[in-house]
Amino acid sequence: MVQEYINENKEKFLNELLDFLRIQSFSADPKFKNEVLKGAQFLEEKLQLAGAENICIHETAGHPIVYADKIIDEQLPTILVYGHYDVQPADPYELWDSDPFEPIVKETSIHPDGAVFARGACDDKGQMYMHVKAFEAMLKTNNLPCNVKFMFEGEEEVGSANLETFVRENTTLLKADVVLVSDTGIIANNTPSICVGLRGLSYVEVEVTGPNRDLHSGLYGGGVANPINILSKMIASLHDDSGAINIPGFYDDVQEVSPNERQEMAKAPFDVEYYKEDLNIGDVSGEKGFSTNERTSIRPALDVNGIWGGYTGDGAKTVLPSKAYAKISMRLVPNQKSEKITELFSTHFEKIAPSSVKVKVTPHHGGEGVVIPTDFTGFMAAKQAMETSFGKTPIPVRSGGSIPIVPMFEEVLGLKTILLGFGLDSDVIHSPNEHYGLFNFYKGIETIPLFYQNFAALNKK
Ligand code: BES
Ligand code: MN
Ligand code: MN
Repeated sequence: MVQEYINENKEKFLNELLDFLRIQSFSADPKFKNEVLKGAQFLEEKLQLAGAENICIHETAGHPIVYADKIIDEQLPTILVYGHYDVQPADPYELWDSDPFEPIVKETSIHPDGAVFARGACDDKGQMYMHVKAFEAMLKTNNLPCNVKFMFEGEEEVGSANLETFVRENTTLLKADVVLVSDTGIIANNTPSICVGLRGLSYVEVEVTGPNRDLHSGLYGGGVANPINILSKMIASLHDDSGAINIPGFYDDVQEVSPNERQEMAKAPFDVEYYKEDLNIGDVSGEKGFSTNERTSIRPALDVNGIWGGYTGDGAKTVLPSKAYAKISMRLVPNQKSEKITELFSTHFEKIAPSSVKVKVTPHHGGEGVVIPTDFTGFMAAKQAMETSFGKTPIPVRSGGSIPIVPMFEEVLGLKTILLGFGLDSDVIHSPNEHYGLFNFYKGIETIPLFYQNFAALNKK
């Protein structure tokens, strides 16, 4: 019945997603505040049409949170669905093959059934919209087996600061038995997997100041410390020769993964030659003693996300700049605390600065990592749902990305989260030409009701 409804409404579902993707809801740029609001209003309308109740656009100090629910029976378990309708900025626009906010469907070698190309197609509008449509299919066919609460935010890509406040202030409203999120990925369309880990994040900006003004690089060069030269050297020193992060205390709280679990992880299919070819790199690189998969999931990483200073315009200008800047992200593993890491970084960075410069470290948003247990009913329900919809047992995998509110759900609401995502790494989220496979979109809509069914069966009260 549910599946029939989905089959009959495939086109409608897709067209609605395309409308959703036309809204330029980037949360980072205040000029687009109204577009983010439009994203919230779009959801409000669609939730209403789907049959949700208590729909509310909750204003925050930043972008709004959309809440809605459908409580059919207090005796039944409740699923809290979380997603984000904000997207990353689309620039650089010139690297897109089509307009990031005029979605088009195109076939690719990985997506022979077609994929929607648009900013947010996979992260996270396409994935969160699957939940609205799965809910509609269940309710319209009288097959909703659980209570459901929806909470969609417009600030995930900028750190979810106001969601945290909302959750803390609404613990009764948000009472549930499990959180369900589709904002991660699977290994491949014929290799389903369930994300059972996310990395934490500590993000800092550094400013290095040399002389009090830009100088003539001929008159002063060689005699005055150049903040860009110094910053480069300081950054280079943050890794040692074995590829490990060279900040005292950085690894103190890292949870080592047992040889057994590492062996299990190594069974997930991964082709390093394809990986290199796909990225057009001569070799992979990272911490000695760990595989690429391990380096990007169970080990921390430190990366410069941006670096600037001095003259970067056309031609040449001989200048010894006064300032240099960099944005640095540190991906953390479970048990590392982002605040502590930020602190360690700041202390270390100030300590290694020569007296010829001054440094300032400004922390940005952060978040903790998480590991999801595989021995509770939420995981079992998800595993069985994917087994049914894909015809294959999903592999549990830890991802390298971060969703900082997930550990917060556990801390504040006492709830575990199921990361039932359907994206592919090759969907290039955050990059130009982001896309989401139609196969993945429909597979998600098909799998979600199976999760509800299994979860209800496993949690009879
Ligand atoms: N959905 C992603 C995170 C993700 C993607 C996790 C794929 C696992 C697999 C999320 O929207 C995101 O981009 N998170 C940011 C952190 C946030 C604080 C800006 C990230 O990981 O950089
Ligand atoms: Mn996301
Ligand atoms: Mn994202």
